[in-house]
Amino acid sequence: MGAVIALVNQKGGCSKSTTAVHISCWLSRKGHFVQLLDADAQRSSSIWLTSMEDKPIPTTVLQSPDELLEQIPELAEQCDYLIVDGPAGLSEASRAILFRADLAVVPCQPTGLDLQSASDAVRLIKQAQSVRGGPPKAAIFISRAVKGTKLLDEAIALLSKTKEVSVLKTVIHQKQAIADTFGQAATIWDLSGRPAAESAREYERLFKEIMGMLP
Ligand SMILES: Nc1ncnc2c1ncn2[C@@H]1O[C@H](COP(=O)(O)OP(=O)(O)O)[C@@H](O)[C@H]1O
Ligand SMILES: [Mg+2]
Repeated sequence: MGAVIALVNQKGGCSKSTTAVHISCWLSRKGHFVQLLDADAQRSSSIWLTSMEDKPIPTTVLQSPDELLEQIPELAEQCDYLIVDGPAGLSEASRAILFRADLAVVPCQPTGLDLQSASDAVRLIKQAQSVRGGPPKAAIFISRAVKGTKLLDEAIALLSKTKEVSVLKTVIHQKQAIADTFGQAATIWDLSGRPAAESAREYERLFKEIMGMLP
């Protein structure tokens, strides 16, 4: 049975799909058999992965809560890692995903509004942990940070107060190279130049932290 890693946060634009595609490709490049489950109506991650030329990562698109509850274990059975790209909105679909995930990862931009939406996601995670008597493990990371922003330290301090959810040490900075990857049907490892190499290093560190959290 493969591990189920879900990217959740109702806030659009916080980097769920970008992170889902990058962690899928990172694990796949390491030789693991990865599948991606796209639970978002916009289908960004499945469109992205299917447009890539490399060895394709199998993708499934599912949005209904019933289908998610039933099919996540079946999909996880067939692979080493099932990466779930969560929907916008904290809906029944998000609950279904949290009932099946081994690890929930919440990307959060360091702004006041985003911190609020992350705390809504944390509430849902805590409910799932309470119903399931433990899982899913959960982690928040700061995404799309702009260097030198004062809010960053405040955001990290605030998020660190939640004991059910760990705050990861790695921060992913806002970089044009990352924004360019979708349009180029690529990931950061396919792009050249120093900014891309810096972002690639940040992702590498983030994904190692995420892997270290798996039960
Ligand atoms: N670290 C980053 N630096 C620059 N742009 C980013 C970064 N992460 C995501 N983006 C861009 O932000 C937008 C939203 O990201 P996306 O992954 O689609 O978020 P979500 O799936 O949470 O809605 C996309 O245009 C994406 O290219
Ligand atoms: Mg998305």
